[in-house]
Amino acid sequence: MKHDIFSLKGKVCIVTGGYQGIGEVVAGYIADAGADIVIFDLADASEVAQKISEEHGVRAAAFKCDVTDPESVKKCIEQAAEKMGTLDLLFNNAGICLHKPALECVPTDWYKVIDVNLNGVYHVAHAFGKYLVDHNKKGNIVNTASMSATIVNIPQRQASYNASKAGVVHLTKSLAVEWVDYGIRVNCISPGYIRTALTEKTNPEYQKAWIESIPYGRMGTPEELAGAVIYLLSDASTYTSGSDLIIDGCFTIV
Ligand SMILES: NC(=O)c1ccc[n+]([C@@H]2O[C@H](COP(=O)([O-])OP(=O)(O)OC[C@H]3O[C@@H](n4cnc5c(N)ncnc54)[C@H](O)[C@@H]3O)[C@@H](O)[C@H]2O)c1
Repeated sequence: MKHDIFSLKGKVCIVTGGYQGIGEVVAGYIADAGADIVIFDLADASEVAQKISEEHGVRAAAFKCDVTDPESVKKCIEQAAEKMGTLDLLFNNAGICLHKPALECVPTDWYKVIDVNLNGVYHVAHAFGKYLVDHNKKGNIVNTASMSATIVNIPQRQASYNASKAGVVHLTKSLAVEWVDYGIRVNCISPGYIRTALTEKTNPEYQKAWIESIPYGRMGTPEELAGAVIYLLSDASTYTSGSDLIIDGCFTIV
């Protein structure tokens, strides 16, 4: 390729929820595209960071961070910037899911899902955006939403998750417009059913029903999301902001 528009060389990228699943796998691909990696997770991801560093020849670090706690997020952004010298990119991906009918949910069930999936995405985007603006830097954010922002999944009941992800899509669009003048692009990906710990532990009957409704006839893999994230983080997408890239094996279009 004459112009390596997908390259992330020389950039530092934060990946939230990078201890496992989509975050862990996509972090490896982002490193393969040349970026240094900083993982923020509730769990200790230092071994993941070390493995990424050894495999891809980039710098990598891990910080224990609770995305629901704005003070924890702010501190981690400051420490990451100091350790890595700069911050350029954010894959804002940490999330949880609760399969529970709305009528059976107590307020704390609802608060927990909204707190991680929507407030958490906001806290990290906010602290990262502020870092960029304060340092007069441009940057890119990719949030992980879900096809559940667009459709209502069955047979499981998960109103809190669906509402939180719809919030992530509209937050993405809103920040994209607010931050145009700062040169900060904000996009999101909306995966369909992806085989990770989050889906593995769900009722096998649900999994069977999902696969029967996916035109591809299978769940996706975290690897199949990596190209989209790199595209949105890189100079291959300089005129793209506020978009929601649905990656679902055709689930939402039938
Ligand atoms: N797997 C799917 O089918 C699917 C589909 C659509 C969207 N998503 C979204 O993709 C993202 C990743 O999902 P996954 O399947 O890899 O899940 P996962 O459970 O395998 O990984 C989630 C990671 O987020 C971390 N995390 C959870 N709460 C946190 C908090 N408060 N602070 C910091 N880190 C926290 C966990 O420790 C874990 O490492 C989530 O936002 C999820 O909603 C997943």
